[in-house]
Amino acid sequence: MPDLYAVVGNPIAQSKSPVIHPMFAEACGHRITYERIESPLGQFAETVNAFRARGGAGINITAPFKLDAVAYATEKSTAAKIAGAANAIKFEGANSVAENFDGVGLVRDIVANLRTPLRGKRVLLLGAGGATRGALSPILGELPSEVWIANRDVAKADALVADVVGTANSNVRACGYESLGEGGFDVVLNATSSSLAQALPPIEAKLFAGSTLAYDLTYGKGLTPFLRLAKESGAAQCVDGVGMLVEQAAEAFYWWRGVRPSTSQAITHLTVPLN
Ligand code: ATR
Repeated sequence: MPDLYAVVGNPIAQSKSPVIHPMFAEACGHRITYERIESPLGQFAETVNAFRARGGAGINITAPFKLDAVAYATEKSTAAKIAGAANAIKFEGANSVAENFDGVGLVRDIVANLRTPLRGKRVLLLGAGGATRGALSPILGELPSEVWIANRDVAKADALVADVVGTANSNVRACGYESLGEGGFDVVLNATSSSLAQALPPIEAKLFAGSTLAYDLTYGKGLTPFLRLAKESGAAQCVDGVGMLVEQAAEAFYWWRGVRPSTSQAITHLTVPLN
């Protein structure tokens, strides 16, 4: 029998994981079954237990269960602990290990696919929710010169920085949107949920310079208000989160299967034109 995996969420119809993982498996010559499971709200543990009883080897987790996934697992990686959220679990007998590959997938997309090293760069993260929580440590691992985290609720950004990096790292600063100064960032990442509502965070054109990479972590929404402003402001590169989506999946596949799949085919397949 092929090894059994699934993505668990509610709703789940929108998930691309059941497209991506079988593509990886085929390219690697592996036989897997990958299901889409809509868990009733409040019944994540029951849903996962039933999947394990059928022989499930691992799951991906999407909204709204990423926090439940951490609570469920018997072991949590450092990334899952820092993010307070998991997007992959591996089942090992009675144990279950929670991981979070969103941040590492984002960084791999920026550095490897988009060929934009972060070392020595000025990076701006918009938002202080789960997406920024997951992204911050992997970004700092690339040794940028500065990381700014802007949020409407500044206390939330302050708390995130204190949790993730403590007070010792003076390269990281939390602020409100009105305190972003002269801008001109090398990389601007929209890690707010604004694009899901086709809304624009309160940002100005001056944040973007002619060499800026503008990256919306949201995927498949076309030219979001954030990307439109970046494009109109002359940002060098404007991209959405399709590469991050595929790269985090590749990390999970590697973790589960021990083989790192090539990601270019899946990225090309899932890319939606930005217009
Ligand atoms: P997630 O886990 O998806 O990141 P979250 O924890 O609810 O979701 O965080 C959503 C983030 O998007 C928050 O930083 C939120 O800002 P506030 O904390 O100030 O509310 C941000 N956000 C959502 N819509 C926004 C908008 N239209 N403009 C700016 N920030 C927005």
